[in-house]
Amino acid sequence: MEKEYEQAVKILKNNHQETIIPIMEKLNENKKEILAEQILNIDFKEINFLYDKTKTDYSSNFENIEKIKAINPDDLSIQEINEYLQIGKTAITNGKFCVAIMAGGQGSRLGHDGPKGTFKIDIEENGKYLFELLIDKLRKAKKKYGVYIDCYIMTSEDNNEETVKFFEKNKYFGYPKTHVKFFKQNSTLVIDKNGKIVIGEDYKIKTCSNGNGEIFSSMAKQGIIDEMKRKKIEWVFIGAVDNILLQLVDTMLLGAAIKNKEMIATRTVLKNAPHENVGVFCKQNGKVKVIEYTEMPKKLAEEVNEKGELVFGEAHIMCNLFNIEALEKASTKNLEYHVAYKKITYLDENGILVRPTEPNCYKFERFIFDAFTLFDNILVLRGKREECFAPIKNAEGIDSPKTAKALYENYMNNIKNKNIKK
Ligand code: UD1
Repeated sequence: MEKEYEQAVKILKNNHQETIIPIMEKLNENKKEILAEQILNIDFKEINFLYDKTKTDYSSNFENIEKIKAINPDDLSIQEINEYLQIGKTAITNGKFCVAIMAGGQGSRLGHDGPKGTFKIDIEENGKYLFELLIDKLRKAKKKYGVYIDCYIMTSEDNNEETVKFFEKNKYFGYPKTHVKFFKQNSTLVIDKNGKIVIGEDYKIKTCSNGNGEIFSSMAKQGIIDEMKRKKIEWVFIGAVDNILLQLVDTMLLGAAIKNKEMIATRTVLKNAPHENVGVFCKQNGKVKVIEYTEMPKKLAEEVNEKGELVFGEAHIMCNLFNIEALEKASTKNLEYHVAYKKITYLDENGILVRPTEPNCYKFERFIFDAFTLFDNILVLRGKREECFAPIKNAEGIDSPKTAKALYENYMNNIKNKNIKK
């Protein structure tokens, strides 16, 4: 053990990462051992690569940006809609379709203590957990289509155990356990403003889940894509855990993708304000692209056409459908990292836990929609906001449990009053 520890210290010095050595020296033997093992497995070249990323100028990312044209279902004939629905239905009943839920995020903005899917929202009689709402949709689909749709749930190193326990405790909300599978996403090192690694409250080198774009390679690494292929699944809908109006089984989107021979299809809604916190679709050099709200230049966000409509108003709501071949292709590519400067708790050189009030470290995340540019085209189908988008992001205010509940109840009332066909 002594040897490993000495080796770890040497490696840190050789790579100009000696800032954590004083803390390491104060740790007990067991913690030293765990940390040394972790350090011996770090790819220090990656740290330099990540640090360089923090200095990259991204302004060229917004050159040659054009508006995208989405299919508006209101422009489709009843025959076309019925044909899409029929094609989608056939694919589902033939077992060609499954869903994947991205639940690896930390949900820190919501301030819920635990995986975001275990948050209970005050709707229906006794409230519903976010995971429960999603499983309810699969149970309804079973009634409608006669098949149990497989559900893959992406967790992270931090929340996997708790998520699995939650499902066990709640008996998978009545869905057969054999149709639910968890897989963990990867994580990436966090570095401070000087490019140095830091130690977290668990006395380990700090890493963070590296974004929902990691879903492709994580699926491949853990044999999920191979498993889907063995099961002859051809289409995978990937949705987020935090949208309580998510149309998890979007038969029309599936049918439209198949009919139009597209490898990827997505549902959008119209953005409700220039600075709403949603990514927006556009085209760049002929390829479909999403610009994330955190990176959207103000000028583009506010651009309007002659009718006063937002030019970049087609919002990404994380309703993305991938053909299995597209999923496989995306899994072989390393999507770009996006850099975020965040508040990260760490141990200072005296081993004291610091909870910064200002951002202090860089996090690196891959975004799911960056996979779109790997393909010539994708099908963009607009949905009605009030029927498919009620996100829960913040504890209060915009996109909070309160706003989501109001949207959910409005949707249910519309169904009751037959304004929407379920
Ligand atoms: C996300 C979208 C944004 C969209 C908005 C709609 C991305 C990168 N951003 O933004 O374009 O308009 O939702 O509400 O998709 N997740 C993981 N692993 C991670 C990080 C996130 O599984 O490492 C999951 C979360 O659990 C969640 C989803 O991805 O289900 C979205 O993550 P979040 O960080 O909440 O994204 P937003 O910033 O809200």
